[in-house]
Amino acid sequence: MLAGKRILLIIAGGIAAYKSLDLIRRLRERGAAVRCVLTRAGAQFVTPLAVASLSEEKVYDDLFSLTDESEMGHIRLSREADLVVVAPATADLLGKMAAGLADDLASTALLATDKPVLIAPTMNVMMWAHPAVQANVATLAARGVRRVGPGAGELACGETGSGRMAEPLQIVAAIEDFFAETASRPLAGRRAIVTSGPTREPLDPVRYIANRSSGKQGHAVAAALARAGADTVLVSGPSAEPDPAGVTLVRVETAREMLAACLQALPADIAVCAAAVVDWRPAEVATSKLKKNGPAAPLVMVENPDILATLAAAGNGRPALVVGFAAETDAVVEYARAKLARKGCDWILANDVSPATGTFGGDHNTVHLVSADAVEDWPRLTKRAVAERLVDRIAEHFDR
Ligand code: C5P
Repeated sequence: MLAGKRILLIIAGGIAAYKSLDLIRRLRERGAAVRCVLTRAGAQFVTPLAVASLSEEKVYDDLFSLTDESEMGHIRLSREADLVVVAPATADLLGKMAAGLADDLASTALLATDKPVLIAPTMNVMMWAHPAVQANVATLAARGVRRVGPGAGELACGETGSGRMAEPLQIVAAIEDFFAETASRPLAGRRAIVTSGPTREPLDPVRYIANRSSGKQGHAVAAALARAGADTVLVSGPSAEPDPAGVTLVRVETAREMLAACLQALPADIAVCAAAVVDWRPAEVATSKLKKNGPAAPLVMVENPDILATLAAAGNGRPALVVGFAAETDAVVEYARAKLARKGCDWILANDVSPATGTFGGDHNTVHLVSADAVEDWPRLTKRAVAERLVDRIAEHFDR
């Protein structure tokens, strides 16, 4: 799980720094690349040579000049990592982190980084219990800094209590937990809009024109995006599907309401239009129920907005990835290609709805993922599996 992960390990001045040497070994064994920053005090406990030998990388210490950064700037150092680990994290360094001080390389890198940080505090039991330290730790926790330990036991100073740095393998486990969480939430920090269900276009207060759509596929996509960590707005026409967990649900009836809700939800990184929007709406909506007497009045219809095409043409605010669905009964891929161009979207999930597939209202879909330069044929899958596969592809797209 740690193979290829890049860890910036900051070693501050505590006796537990000797355990950090073992931590480097354990991380290297698991395939992680470890780059180390050694504070001036840290270098009193372990030597730069030991750290360099174990990490097989140059060690960055206070001899490294903040002004002469020809080889590696402190900003780059702080950014070229997947995770920053501070072990040992001393009372002094925690205080600097909480206060935003930057008077040496370690504190400067911690202030400059845009990467998640994990601390492994260690100090004397009274120091750890001190309100100043506890307030700093609380401040850091509120900023999303992760923590492992300290544990209780006999401390190097001879006292007993809380303040022992977590053991190297516990720190490795915390690092693995971090990567496991982020791996399963590859879309964390992204925003998504999903349309789902049918729309209903009223004729009068009691009648409407609608499409046949259960909302199963769109709801499944919204749920899968949310599970992948995306901040997801689901704009849905009337559907009997349960509200998916973790999404913001906006209920609408008509195509125009659906479009307004989508535009309202911008900006977004991802838009997936799975709704079966009614293409035409009655030009006039009677304010009272149309009476049956007399011959049927001809129905005058006007075109509804195309939500997918509108989002795909949203200019500056256009989601980076716009995905549409196409239901076809024949020449599925060919028609999907044409639709891709016409709608200006990036991908079309072309759904084979020939009667033999039993797609409508059913739990399965047979789809092809069509982009401008490729077609992927997917096997017959449940709608949930289609949603998951689509979200995997979306995550890969953003990863690239
Ligand atoms: O043109 P067609 O209805 O086959 O296109 C289907 C795709 O376009 C689907 O993704 C559907 O959600 C979207 N669409 C839309 N607004 C419309 C019509 C279709 O967003 N008015």
